[in-house]
Amino acid sequence: MRDHLLMPSARITDQAQQAVARFLRPGEIAIDATAGNGHDTLFLARIVGETGRVYACDVQSEAIESTAERLRAAGIGNVTLVQGDHARLEQLIPAGCRGRVGAVMFNLGYRPGGNKTIATELASTVRAVETALTLLRPGGVLSVVGYVGHPGGREETLAVECLLDGLDPERFETLHRPDETATSLQPRLYVVSVRSQE
Ligand SMILES: C[S@@+](CC[C@H](N)C(=O)[O-])C[C@H]1O[C@@H](n2cnc3c(N)ncnc32)[C@H](O)[C@@H]1O
Repeated sequence: MRDHLLMPSARITDQAQQAVARFLRPGEIAIDATAGNGHDTLFLARIVGETGRVYACDVQSEAIESTAERLRAAGIGNVTLVQGDHARLEQLIPAGCRGRVGAVMFNLGYRPGGNKTIATELASTVRAVETALTLLRPGGVLSVVGYVGHPGGREETLAVECLLDGLDPERFETLHRPDETATSLQPRLYVVSVRSQE
């Protein structure tokens, strides 16, 4: 595990971005599976640049609008926003992305400042994470931030943890996983990369 790559003092969402920034390259495809207010979308769009493309999805129109507004304000044009359930991730992005995506980010839970009843859920999250892993290129990276303090968030986060812990270590490398001793209400960050074939 290479979690020394992250600055433990940073906010967990910043730690997720730090990890992704080490793997994602200009010109690549990236996915924000939970667009929310667009912070991660903007971050990804800046890395891949004008020659790359970000697909950002969210179930709620308010999140799509909030993300669009953030991108407009930053003068960013290389993002495709899609309203939909990330459980259908493969249908929400163009065919042909499979195996070519440099990074997929998930920030679970509800949209800060938005409707707290519209939050990610265990079954669709697990399905979306499974799909995301199939979309990544060799050397590509997945990050998931889970919130164990939210209603249903502990079960959802631990289901993701179980899924990621069960990955074939010959195909995937765990770069970061929460400390077993983390206090029970701390958000949890998972970072996994696809091993390059030698
Ligand atoms: C914590 S917020 C994401 C924050 C965002 N990454 C940012 O940088 O601003 C979680 C988002 O997940 C969205 N969401 C909930 N269920 C979803 C689903 N099934 N598919 C896609 N997005 C979903 C919520 O609407 C909410 O906007």
